[in-house]
Amino acid sequence: MDWGMKNRISRIIKKDGHTVMLAVDHGYFMGPTTGLEKLDEMVKPLLPYADVLMPTRGGLRNYIPPETDIPICLRVSGGTSILNETNLLHEGIIVSMEDAIRLNVSAVAFSILVGQPFERDTLLAFTQVIDEANRYGIPVLAVTAVGKGLGKDARYLSLASRMAAELGASIVKTYFCKDFEKIVETCPVPIVIAGGKKIPEKDALQMTYDALQAGAIGVDMGRNVFQSSNPVSMIKAVNAIIHKKYTPKEAYDLFKSNK
Ligand code: R5P
Repeated sequence: MDWGMKNRISRIIKKDGHTVMLAVDHGYFMGPTTGLEKLDEMVKPLLPYADVLMPTRGGLRNYIPPETDIPICLRVSGGTSILNETNLLHEGIIVSMEDAIRLNVSAVAFSILVGQPFERDTLLAFTQVIDEANRYGIPVLAVTAVGKGLGKDARYLSLASRMAAELGASIVKTYFCKDFEKIVETCPVPIVIAGGKKIPEKDALQMTYDALQAGAIGVDMGRNVFQSSNPVSMIKAVNAIIHKKYTPKEAYDLFKSNK
């Protein structure tokens, strides 16, 4: 691995081997997602507790000041909207590597959808992005998207995660599920979990803790932070589990006390 790649990965994964990634890229297919209508106002107070920010190209340019000192994991796949149910997540490349470099990103993120008729399209575009990104020492985070009718279970997610790693991903983002350790055990690259749809804060903190116990290195969480009744307290609590070894109860107490 060359110096640039190692340097970028060290910006994403902190010295303790863990990371708190804040996902705010939802607008690329969901438009003005609840909580992100004014993305700049939402994100600014959360940044001190996040290690990495995951926006879109337009989100970064329009809402995040260039002086902001946080590594960027840029979403580079997309092409369908939430209204296009039959093709949802049939994603292709939406940002050139040249523009990702111009934006000084530390990583790029690409969603693959295994198990749909169009899986081949997403997998071939994914490997094209890996070749281009790796040429410049940029790591690729694979998002194992879950389409209609596909279960969020260890059997399916370990298939998608291992495939992503075998195809060249440096980091895999997947969903937490029962027997999560089986996904970690069979995936040779670090795994972060997505938060998924908003659930009660107590449950989201428990999920974060359980994922870490099962071997995840952290989270790439969005809605469970920015749709919380108190987003700053929530990301503080998530950060405390990931970097300060808080138990779910301690973290939930921290969340409540900050309220
Ligand atoms: C999903 O398509 C996006 O990549 C999201 O950023 C990702 O799923 C994480 O966000 P959330 O925690 O809201 O699921």
